[in-house]
Amino acid sequence: MIRLTVFPTPENAALAAAERVVAAIGAAESEGRTAHISLAGGTTPHRAYQLLADRLTDVNRVDWWFGDERCVPPDDPESNYRLARETLFDAAGVPAERVHRIRGEDPPDDAARAYEDELRACLSSGANGVPVLDLALLGLGEDGHTASLFPGDSALDVTDRLALAVVAAKPPPNRITLTLPVLRGARLVLVLATGTGKADAVARVLAGPNPATPASLLGDASAELLVDAAAAR
Ligand code: 6PG
Repeated sequence: MIRLTVFPTPENAALAAAERVVAAIGAAESEGRTAHISLAGGTTPHRAYQLLADRLTDVNRVDWWFGDERCVPPDDPESNYRLARETLFDAAGVPAERVHRIRGEDPPDDAARAYEDELRACLSSGANGVPVLDLALLGLGEDGHTASLFPGDSALDVTDRLALAVVAAKPPPNRITLTLPVLRGARLVLVLATGTGKADAVARVLAGPNPATPASLLGDASAELLVDAAAAR
């Protein structure tokens, strides 16, 4: 089962997420590798990114990816890239060439396929031929979605793609998401969820794998659920 770690406050949970990202970067560096980290969208990771920006020591040892993106331009308020740029990349001085944006401004399927090509070009793959992220930082929707993998979506069953264009239940509807094989293949999966609104989804994730709760399908070997006391209720 996915490991659960409960923190007293959202701030504690955000700090723990930031520290785990820093640790994953250090682990890759100790193996002589550049770390590849995918970031979550939404609002929850905002503080974690601010704390992470203060803790990055070598911005040239890590490349940044996205678990999903909305099909909007990069300067759109709904853009997950814009959130990360404003809270992490600009604050930490991350070089542009270290950021692998999903091109939300392009036709969705074109953007998904271009992102797949970039993943394959930059990451080494596991035995199953799937590129391996060092860490996938994800959020959790109240309906149990993660990235842009929503309950009942056929995207949950796709195993021959790394990224997909989907139509989501959460606005904006048109999105591109990493698929489960990529997320499950990461060396570490961190799901960050805070607030009472996420308590039910947290409970469903802990109840075991169920396509009605996509985040419950992330696997358990290398997955950790970071929550505050409110989301653990
Ligand atoms: C997105 C996110 C999505 C998010 C959850 C939680 O693009 O919307 O990737 O999966 O993590 O919906 O969103 P909040 O953090 O805003 O609650």
